[in-house]
Amino acid sequence: MKKLILTLTAACLVSPLLAQEKKLELTGNDQMQFNTKTLEVTAGEKVTLSFKHIGQLQKVAMGHNVVILKAGTPIPPFATKAMTAAANDYIPVDEESKKLIVAHTKVLGGGESQTITFTAPAEAGDYPYLCTFPGHFALMQGVLKVKAK
Ligand code: CU
Repeated sequence: MKKLILTLTAACLVSPLLAQEKKLELTGNDQMQFNTKTLEVTAGEKVTLSFKHIGQLQKVAMGHNVVILKAGTPIPPFATKAMTAAANDYIPVDEESKKLIVAHTKVLGGGESQTITFTAPAEAGDYPYLCTFPGHFALMQGVLKVKAK
């Protein structure tokens, strides 16, 4: 009985932390569009991002990923670098680019999905996100708004 009480107490202590987890959903389609250009989180919170390719085209023709970059990172030069990183699923491998990435998914084909978890940046700001599949960033980009705690 004592053990049960201890377990319940522990669960009560843990649950407020779990409540701070933020769930985000994002989709990409065969028309090269994300379903939203704005996502919102609070600084430092745990984020679960579910990304789904709701189209039907194969990964080689219409692959999509989500790459979240540090606040203020210009998208075009990053996307240009990413384009040359086909061998690494269009995630640039040079040190400078790696430092700019907050979180990313893999490239998905139609019908596929992936859920990633990451900790929201500690600093409030506008963090751009994009799909780095060649030619997609112009249409497939948005802003992850990180609000101050
Ligand atoms: Cu794409």
